[in-house]
Amino acid sequence: MIVHYRNGFLYDIWIISSEFLISPLTKATVCDKIIYIDTMLSLYYDELNMRGRKMMSEKLWRKNLINIEPYVAGEQPKNENIIKLNANENPYPPSPAVERVLKSESAAELRKYPDANAMPLKKALAERYGLKAENVFCGNGSDDVLATAFRAFFNSDKPIFYPDVTYSFYPVWCELLKIPYETKPVDENFVINVKDYYGDNGGVVIPNPNAPTSLGVGKDFIEDLLEHNKDSIVIIDEAYADFGKYSCVELVKKYDNLVVTQTFSKSRSLAGMRVGMTFANEELISYMQAVKDSYNSYPLDRLAIKTAVASLSDEEYFRSTVERIKLTRDKTAESLREMGFKVLDSETNFLFVTHEKFAAKDIFTYLREAGIFVRHFNKPRIDNYLRITIGTDSQMSFLIRVASSF
Ligand SMILES: Cc1ncc(COP(=O)(O)O)c(C=O)c1O
Repeated sequence: MIVHYRNGFLYDIWIISSEFLISPLTKATVCDKIIYIDTMLSLYYDELNMRGRKMMSEKLWRKNLINIEPYVAGEQPKNENIIKLNANENPYPPSPAVERVLKSESAAELRKYPDANAMPLKKALAERYGLKAENVFCGNGSDDVLATAFRAFFNSDKPIFYPDVTYSFYPVWCELLKIPYETKPVDENFVINVKDYYGDNGGVVIPNPNAPTSLGVGKDFIEDLLEHNKDSIVIIDEAYADFGKYSCVELVKKYDNLVVTQTFSKSRSLAGMRVGMTFANEELISYMQAVKDSYNSYPLDRLAIKTAVASLSDEEYFRSTVERIKLTRDKTAESLREMGFKVLDSETNFLFVTHEKFAAKDIFTYLREAGIFVRHFNKPRIDNYLRITIGTDSQMSFLIRVASSF
Protein backbone atom coordinates (compact mmCIF):
# COMPACT_ATOMS: atom_id res chain seq x y z
CA MET A 1 0.00 0.00 0.00
CA ILE A 2 1.31 3.45 -0.92
CA VAL A 3 -0.14 6.53 0.75
CA HIS A 4 0.39 9.89 -0.97
CA TYR A 5 0.29 13.23 0.80
CA ARG A 6 0.30 16.60 -0.94
CA ASN A 7 0.32 19.91 0.96
CA GLY A 8 -0.51 18.04 4.15
CA PHE A 9 -3.64 16.41 2.64
CA LEU A 10 -4.11 12.74 2.08
CA TYR A 11 -4.08 12.76 -1.70
CA ASP A 12 -4.53 9.18 -2.84
CA ILE A 13 -3.88 5.60 -1.89
CA TRP A 14 -2.63 2.86 -4.17
CA ILE A 15 -3.11 -0.77 -3.35
CA ILE A 16 -0.56 -2.99 -4.93
CA SER A 17 -0.76 -6.76 -4.70
CA SER A 18 -0.18 -9.60 -7.10
CA GLU A 19 -3.84 -9.33 -8.22
CA PHE A 20 -4.69 -5.61 -8.14
CA LEU A 21 -3.32 -2.29 -9.10
CA ILE A 22 -6.11 0.10 -8.10
CA SER A 23 -6.15 3.86 -8.23
CA PRO A 24 -7.90 6.05 -7.45
CA LEU A 25 -9.64 4.61 -4.43
CA THR A 26 -13.20 4.78 -5.83
CA LYS A 27 -12.35 2.10 -8.34
CA ALA A 28 -12.13 -0.31 -5.42
CA THR A 29 -15.90 -0.33 -5.02
CA VAL A 30 -16.61 -1.93 -8.42
CA CYS A 31 -15.51 -5.37 -7.51
CA ASP A 32 -16.79 -7.60 -4.71
CA LYS A 33 -13.37 -9.00 -4.14
CA ILE A 34 -12.07 -5.62 -3.24
CA ILE A 35 -14.76 -4.53 -0.81
CA TYR A 36 -12.74 -5.55 2.17
CA ILE A 37 -9.92 -3.34 0.90
CA ASP A 38 -12.34 -0.44 0.74
CA THR A 39 -13.25 -0.99 4.39
CA MET A 40 -9.67 -1.26 5.36
CA LEU A 41 -8.89 1.99 3.63
CA SER A 42 -11.72 3.76 5.45
CA LEU A 43 -9.99 2.90 8.69
CA TYR A 44 -6.81 4.38 7.32
CA TYR A 45 -8.62 7.56 6.41
CA ASP A 46 -10.10 7.93 9.89
CA GLU A 47 -6.85 7.26 11.46
CA LEU A 48 -4.57 9.18 9.18
CA ASN A 49 -6.38 12.29 8.00
CA MET A 50 -10.06 13.20 7.88
CA ARG A 51 -9.19 15.96 5.47
CA GLY A 52 -7.96 13.41 3.02
CA ARG A 53 -11.46 11.96 2.73
CA LYS A 54 -12.85 15.45 2.20
CA MET A 55 -10.39 16.01 -0.59
CA MET A 56 -11.91 13.04 -2.40
CA SER A 57 -15.50 14.29 -2.23
CA GLU A 58 -15.18 18.08 -2.21
CA LYS A 59 -13.14 19.93 -4.86
CA LEU A 60 -11.21 22.74 -3.30
CA TRP A 61 -11.20 24.75 -6.52
CA ARG A 62 -14.93 25.29 -6.03
CA LYS A 63 -14.07 27.76 -3.29
CA ASN A 64 -12.42 29.98 -5.90
CA LEU A 65 -15.38 30.09 -8.27
CA ILE A 66 -17.05 33.43 -8.79
CA ASN A 67 -20.47 33.66 -7.21
CA ILE A 68 -22.42 35.95 -9.47
CA GLU A 69 -25.94 36.33 -10.79
CA PRO A 70 -25.46 36.91 -14.53
CA TYR A 71 -27.53 39.17 -16.76
CA VAL A 72 -30.36 37.30 -18.52
CA ALA A 73 -30.83 38.33 -22.14
CA GLY A 74 -34.20 38.25 -23.92
CA GLU A 75 -35.15 34.71 -25.00
CA GLN A 76 -34.26 33.74 -28.60
CA PRO A 77 -36.98 31.27 -29.65
CA LYS A 78 -36.23 28.56 -32.21
CA ASN A 79 -39.62 28.87 -33.84
CA GLU A 80 -39.40 31.35 -36.75
CA ASN A 81 -43.10 32.12 -36.53
CA ILE A 82 -42.84 33.72 -33.11
CA ILE A 83 -43.35 37.49 -33.14
CA LYS A 84 -40.31 38.53 -31.21
CA LEU A 85 -40.88 41.74 -29.29
CA ASN A 86 -38.68 40.86 -26.31
CA ALA A 87 -35.11 41.99 -27.06
CA ASN A 88 -35.48 45.51 -28.51
CA GLU A 89 -34.22 44.34 -31.88
CA ASN A 90 -35.01 46.28 -35.03
CA PRO A 91 -37.77 44.67 -37.15
CA TYR A 92 -36.17 45.92 -40.38
CA PRO A 93 -33.02 44.56 -42.01
CA PRO A 94 -29.84 46.65 -42.01
CA SER A 95 -29.12 48.99 -44.93
CA PRO A 96 -28.70 47.33 -48.35
CA ALA A 97 -25.13 48.66 -48.18
CA VAL A 98 -24.50 46.10 -45.44
CA GLU A 99 -25.84 43.30 -47.61
CA ARG A 100 -23.51 44.38 -50.42
CA VAL A 101 -20.50 44.15 -48.09
CA LEU A 102 -21.51 40.67 -46.95
CA LYS A 103 -21.89 39.48 -50.53
CA SER A 104 -18.59 40.92 -51.70
CA GLU A 105 -16.46 39.61 -48.81
CA SER A 106 -13.96 36.88 -49.53
CA ALA A 107 -13.51 34.05 -47.04
CA ALA A 108 -9.77 34.11 -47.74
CA GLU A 109 -9.54 37.51 -46.01
CA LEU A 110 -10.62 35.93 -42.75
CA ARG A 111 -7.24 34.33 -42.22
CA LYS A 112 -5.91 37.79 -41.32
CA TYR A 113 -6.52 39.57 -38.03
CA PRO A 114 -8.75 42.62 -38.21
CA ASP A 115 -7.56 46.17 -37.55
CA ALA A 116 -7.03 46.07 -33.76
CA ASN A 117 -8.32 49.61 -33.36
CA ALA A 118 -11.14 49.37 -35.91
CA MET A 119 -9.70 52.53 -37.45
CA PRO A 120 -11.94 52.68 -40.56
CA LEU A 121 -14.96 52.58 -38.25
CA LYS A 122 -13.53 55.11 -35.81
CA LYS A 123 -12.92 57.49 -38.72
CA ALA A 124 -16.42 57.01 -40.11
CA LEU A 125 -17.97 57.57 -36.67
CA ALA A 126 -15.80 60.63 -36.02
CA GLU A 127 -16.94 62.13 -39.30
CA ARG A 128 -20.61 61.34 -38.65
CA TYR A 129 -20.52 62.94 -35.17
CA GLY A 130 -18.14 65.86 -35.86
CA LEU A 131 -15.33 64.51 -33.66
CA LYS A 132 -11.81 63.15 -34.13
CA ALA A 133 -11.01 59.44 -34.41
CA GLU A 134 -9.16 59.86 -31.08
CA ASN A 135 -12.52 60.63 -29.46
CA VAL A 136 -13.94 57.25 -30.46
CA PHE A 137 -13.59 53.77 -28.99
CA CYS A 138 -15.21 50.71 -30.60
CA GLY A 139 -16.10 47.35 -29.10
CA ASN A 140 -18.08 44.17 -29.40
CA GLY A 141 -21.50 45.73 -28.78
CA SER A 142 -22.19 48.47 -26.27
CA ASP A 143 -22.17 45.87 -23.50
CA ASP A 144 -18.48 45.41 -24.26
CA VAL A 145 -17.69 49.12 -24.34
CA LEU A 146 -19.71 49.68 -21.16
CA ALA A 147 -17.89 46.87 -19.35
CA THR A 148 -14.58 48.34 -20.56
CA ALA A 149 -15.62 51.78 -19.30
CA PHE A 150 -16.64 50.35 -15.90
CA ARG A 151 -13.22 48.73 -15.65
CA ALA A 152 -11.35 51.83 -16.76
CA PHE A 153 -13.21 54.50 -14.78
CA PHE A 154 -14.90 53.02 -11.73
CA ASN A 155 -11.96 52.23 -9.48
CA SER A 156 -12.77 54.33 -6.43
CA ASP A 157 -13.64 53.15 -2.90
CA LYS A 158 -16.72 55.36 -3.15
CA PRO A 159 -19.89 53.88 -4.62
CA ILE A 160 -20.96 54.60 -8.15
CA PHE A 161 -24.52 55.89 -8.55
CA TYR A 162 -27.21 54.68 -10.94
CA PRO A 163 -31.03 54.53 -10.87
CA ASP A 164 -32.75 51.64 -9.07
CA VAL A 165 -34.84 50.94 -12.17
CA THR A 166 -32.41 50.71 -15.05
CA TYR A 167 -30.40 48.42 -17.31
CA SER A 168 -29.91 45.23 -15.32
CA PHE A 169 -26.37 44.66 -16.54
CA TYR A 170 -24.98 47.46 -14.29
CA PRO A 171 -25.24 45.53 -11.00
CA VAL A 172 -23.76 42.48 -12.75
CA TRP A 173 -20.63 44.38 -13.81
CA CYS A 174 -20.37 45.93 -10.33
CA GLU A 175 -20.45 42.48 -8.76
CA LEU A 176 -18.03 41.05 -11.30
CA LEU A 177 -15.54 43.91 -11.02
CA LYS A 178 -16.09 44.48 -7.28
CA ILE A 179 -17.24 48.06 -7.77
CA PRO A 180 -19.21 49.49 -4.82
CA TYR A 181 -22.54 50.97 -5.92
CA GLU A 182 -25.58 52.79 -4.61
CA THR A 183 -28.87 52.88 -6.46
CA LYS A 184 -30.93 56.07 -6.53
CA PRO A 185 -34.68 55.42 -6.58
CA VAL A 186 -36.58 56.87 -9.51
CA ASP A 187 -39.86 58.51 -8.43
CA GLU A 188 -43.30 56.88 -8.63
CA ASN A 189 -43.50 57.85 -12.32
CA PHE A 190 -40.02 56.36 -12.96
CA VAL A 191 -38.53 59.85 -13.34
CA ILE A 192 -34.86 60.29 -12.41
CA ASN A 193 -34.15 63.19 -10.03
CA VAL A 194 -30.81 64.79 -10.92
CA LYS A 195 -30.28 66.05 -7.36
CA ASP A 196 -29.94 62.44 -6.17
CA TYR A 197 -26.64 62.38 -8.08
CA TYR A 198 -25.07 65.46 -6.48
CA GLY A 199 -23.37 63.56 -3.64
CA ASP A 200 -19.81 62.31 -3.38
CA ASN A 201 -19.44 59.20 -5.58
CA GLY A 202 -17.02 56.99 -7.49
CA GLY A 203 -18.82 57.60 -10.80
CA VAL A 204 -22.27 57.80 -12.35
CA VAL A 205 -23.95 55.74 -15.05
CA ILE A 206 -27.36 56.60 -16.48
CA PRO A 207 -29.00 55.39 -19.66
CA ASN A 208 -30.65 58.11 -21.66
CA PRO A 209 -33.33 57.18 -22.55
CA ASN A 210 -33.56 54.86 -19.58
CA ALA A 211 -34.29 51.16 -19.97
CA PRO A 212 -36.69 49.56 -19.38
CA THR A 213 -38.73 52.67 -18.54
CA SER A 214 -38.23 54.25 -22.03
CA LEU A 215 -38.13 57.75 -20.49
CA GLY A 216 -35.59 60.31 -21.66
CA VAL A 217 -34.00 63.41 -20.16
CA GLY A 218 -32.82 66.54 -21.97
CA LYS A 219 -29.69 68.67 -22.20
CA ASP A 220 -30.39 70.63 -18.99
CA PHE A 221 -30.48 67.43 -16.95
CA ILE A 222 -27.24 66.10 -18.45
CA GLU A 223 -25.36 69.39 -18.01
CA ASP A 224 -26.62 69.68 -14.43
CA LEU A 225 -25.40 66.13 -13.77
CA LEU A 226 -21.99 66.87 -15.28
CA GLU A 227 -21.60 70.20 -13.46
CA HIS A 228 -22.24 68.46 -10.13
CA ASN A 229 -19.90 65.56 -10.80
CA LYS A 230 -16.71 67.20 -11.99
CA ASP A 231 -14.56 64.85 -9.91
CA SER A 232 -15.99 61.64 -11.31
CA ILE A 233 -16.67 60.06 -14.66
CA VAL A 234 -20.25 60.21 -15.88
CA ILE A 235 -21.27 57.51 -18.36
CA ILE A 236 -24.39 58.17 -20.42
CA ASP A 237 -25.58 54.96 -22.03
CA GLU A 238 -27.32 56.04 -25.25
CA ALA A 239 -28.31 52.61 -26.57
CA TYR A 240 -31.71 54.04 -27.60
CA ALA A 241 -30.86 57.71 -28.18
CA ASP A 242 -31.49 57.52 -31.94
CA PHE A 243 -35.21 57.03 -31.17
CA GLY A 244 -35.25 59.83 -28.61
CA LYS A 245 -35.12 63.61 -28.45
CA TYR A 246 -31.62 64.28 -27.24
CA SER A 247 -28.11 62.84 -27.58
CA CYS A 248 -25.29 64.41 -25.56
CA VAL A 249 -22.43 63.37 -27.87
CA GLU A 250 -21.87 67.09 -28.63
CA LEU A 251 -21.00 67.66 -24.93
CA VAL A 252 -17.91 65.47 -25.19
CA LYS A 253 -16.07 68.56 -26.46
CA LYS A 254 -17.15 70.57 -23.42
CA TYR A 255 -16.83 68.10 -20.50
CA ASP A 256 -13.69 66.09 -19.88
CA ASN A 257 -15.52 63.71 -17.52
CA LEU A 258 -18.25 62.65 -19.96
CA VAL A 259 -18.34 59.20 -21.58
CA VAL A 260 -21.15 58.44 -24.05
CA THR A 261 -21.84 54.92 -25.28
CA GLN A 262 -23.96 53.94 -28.28
CA THR A 263 -24.70 50.83 -30.31
CA PHE A 264 -25.40 49.57 -33.82
CA SER A 265 -27.74 46.94 -32.34
CA LYS A 266 -30.97 48.92 -32.22
CA SER A 267 -31.33 51.81 -34.67
CA ARG A 268 -28.96 50.24 -37.23
CA SER A 269 -30.31 46.67 -37.14
CA LEU A 270 -26.89 45.11 -36.47
CA ALA A 271 -27.47 43.37 -33.13
CA GLY A 272 -26.09 40.17 -34.66
CA MET A 273 -22.82 41.86 -35.62
CA ARG A 274 -22.06 43.18 -32.11
CA VAL A 275 -20.82 46.72 -32.67
CA GLY A 276 -20.78 49.38 -29.98
CA MET A 277 -18.95 52.68 -29.55
CA THR A 278 -17.88 55.23 -26.98
CA PHE A 279 -17.38 58.95 -27.45
CA ALA A 280 -15.21 60.85 -24.97
CA ASN A 281 -12.17 63.11 -24.81
CA GLU A 282 -8.87 61.73 -26.07
CA GLU A 283 -7.44 60.99 -22.65
CA LEU A 284 -10.43 58.91 -21.51
CA ILE A 285 -10.46 57.03 -24.79
CA SER A 286 -6.78 56.19 -24.35
CA TYR A 287 -7.57 54.59 -20.95
CA MET A 288 -10.31 52.50 -22.48
CA GLN A 289 -7.95 51.51 -25.26
CA ALA A 290 -5.38 50.40 -22.66
CA VAL A 291 -7.97 48.30 -20.82
CA LYS A 292 -9.10 46.68 -24.07
CA ASP A 293 -5.51 45.91 -25.04
CA SER A 294 -5.06 44.26 -21.65
CA TYR A 295 -7.65 41.57 -22.28
CA ASN A 296 -8.61 41.39 -25.98
CA SER A 297 -6.89 43.40 -28.70
CA TYR A 298 -9.45 42.49 -31.38
CA PRO A 299 -12.97 42.87 -30.01
CA LEU A 300 -14.31 43.74 -33.48
CA ASP A 301 -13.95 41.29 -36.34
CA ARG A 302 -13.35 42.21 -40.00
CA LEU A 303 -16.99 41.85 -41.01
CA ALA A 304 -18.24 43.83 -38.05
CA ILE A 305 -15.96 46.75 -38.94
CA LYS A 306 -16.92 46.69 -42.63
CA THR A 307 -20.66 46.30 -42.15
CA ALA A 308 -20.75 49.04 -39.51
CA VAL A 309 -18.93 51.42 -41.88
CA ALA A 310 -21.39 50.48 -44.64
CA SER A 311 -24.32 51.17 -42.33
CA LEU A 312 -22.96 54.62 -41.52
CA SER A 313 -22.64 55.37 -45.24
CA ASP A 314 -26.41 55.07 -45.68
CA GLU A 315 -27.78 57.90 -43.57
CA GLU A 316 -31.02 58.06 -45.53
CA TYR A 317 -31.93 54.43 -44.84
CA PHE A 318 -31.03 54.89 -41.17
CA ARG A 319 -33.26 57.94 -40.81
CA SER A 320 -36.19 56.40 -42.66
CA THR A 321 -36.27 53.17 -40.58
CA VAL A 322 -35.90 55.08 -37.32
CA GLU A 323 -38.79 57.36 -38.32
CA ARG A 324 -40.90 54.37 -39.28
CA ILE A 325 -40.33 52.74 -35.90
CA LYS A 326 -41.16 55.97 -34.07
CA LEU A 327 -44.45 56.30 -36.00
CA THR A 328 -45.39 52.69 -35.26
CA ARG A 329 -44.43 53.22 -31.61
CA ASP A 330 -46.69 56.25 -31.20
CA LYS A 331 -49.59 54.54 -32.97
CA THR A 332 -49.21 51.40 -30.82
CA ALA A 333 -49.01 53.45 -27.63
CA GLU A 334 -52.27 55.18 -28.55
CA SER A 335 -54.06 51.87 -29.21
CA LEU A 336 -52.80 50.37 -25.94
CA ARG A 337 -53.95 53.43 -23.98
CA GLU A 338 -57.42 53.06 -25.50
CA MET A 339 -57.44 49.49 -24.13
CA GLY A 340 -56.79 50.60 -20.54
CA PHE A 341 -52.99 50.29 -20.55
CA LYS A 342 -50.83 52.92 -18.92
CA VAL A 343 -48.02 53.53 -21.42
CA LEU A 344 -44.99 55.60 -20.48
CA ASP A 345 -43.96 58.30 -22.98
CA SER A 346 -41.37 56.35 -24.91
CA GLU A 347 -38.24 57.85 -26.45
CA THR A 348 -37.02 54.39 -27.45
CA ASN A 349 -37.92 51.50 -29.77
CA PHE A 350 -40.01 49.86 -27.03
CA LEU A 351 -42.97 50.63 -24.78
CA PHE A 352 -43.14 50.14 -21.03
CA VAL A 353 -46.72 49.38 -20.10
CA THR A 354 -48.99 48.24 -17.30
CA HIS A 355 -52.73 47.58 -17.23
CA GLU A 356 -55.25 49.13 -14.85
CA LYS A 357 -57.02 45.83 -14.22
CA PHE A 358 -54.91 42.88 -15.36
CA ALA A 359 -51.63 41.53 -14.02
CA ALA A 360 -48.66 41.94 -16.35
CA LYS A 361 -47.58 38.35 -15.78
CA ASP A 362 -50.97 37.06 -16.98
CA ILE A 363 -50.91 39.24 -20.10
CA PHE A 364 -47.34 38.08 -20.75
CA THR A 365 -48.43 34.43 -20.61
CA TYR A 366 -51.48 35.06 -22.78
CA LEU A 367 -49.41 36.80 -25.47
CA ARG A 368 -46.80 34.09 -25.32
CA GLU A 369 -49.40 31.40 -25.91
CA ALA A 370 -50.53 33.37 -28.96
CA GLY A 371 -46.93 33.37 -30.29
CA ILE A 372 -45.95 36.90 -29.21
CA PHE A 373 -42.90 37.22 -26.98
CA VAL A 374 -42.58 40.38 -24.90
CA ARG A 375 -40.40 40.96 -21.82
CA HIS A 376 -41.52 40.72 -18.21
CA PHE A 377 -39.04 41.50 -15.43
CA ASN A 378 -39.75 39.75 -12.17
CA LYS A 379 -38.21 42.57 -10.17
CA PRO A 380 -39.32 44.96 -7.44
CA ARG A 381 -41.22 48.05 -8.68
CA ILE A 382 -41.55 46.79 -12.27
CA ASP A 383 -43.03 43.32 -11.91
CA ASN A 384 -46.45 44.56 -13.02
CA TYR A 385 -45.05 46.06 -16.23
CA LEU A 386 -44.26 44.68 -19.67
CA ARG A 387 -41.59 45.89 -22.06
CA ILE A 388 -42.80 45.62 -25.64
CA THR A 389 -40.35 46.12 -28.50
CA ILE A 390 -41.73 47.95 -31.53
CA GLY A 391 -42.01 45.60 -34.50
CA THR A 392 -43.43 46.19 -37.96
CA ASP A 393 -46.89 47.75 -38.36
CA SER A 394 -48.47 44.38 -39.04
CA GLN A 395 -46.78 42.75 -36.03
CA MET A 396 -48.05 45.53 -33.79
CA SER A 397 -51.57 45.29 -35.23
CA PHE A 398 -51.51 41.57 -34.40
CA LEU A 399 -50.32 42.36 -30.87
CA ILE A 400 -53.17 44.83 -30.40
CA ARG A 401 -55.68 42.32 -31.73
CA VAL A 402 -54.47 39.56 -29.40
CA ALA A 403 -54.19 41.88 -26.38
CA SER A 404 -57.72 43.16 -26.89
CA SER A 405 -59.04 39.60 -26.71
CA PHE A 406 -57.46 39.06 -23.27
C1 LIG B 1 -29.63 50.36 -21.86
C2 LIG B 1 -28.86 49.38 -22.68
N1 LIG B 1 -27.55 49.56 -22.80
C3 LIG B 1 -26.79 48.71 -23.53
C4 LIG B 1 -27.34 47.63 -24.18
C5 LIG B 1 -26.43 46.70 -24.93
O1 LIG B 1 -26.63 46.65 -26.28
P1 LIG B 1 -25.58 45.97 -27.26
O2 LIG B 1 -24.58 45.24 -26.44
O3 LIG B 1 -26.38 45.09 -28.14
O4 LIG B 1 -24.94 47.11 -27.99
C6 LIG B 1 -28.70 47.40 -24.08
C7 LIG B 1 -29.30 46.22 -24.76
O5 LIG B 1 -30.43 45.89 -24.72
C8 LIG B 1 -29.49 48.29 -23.31
O6 LIG B 1 -30.80 48.10 -23.16
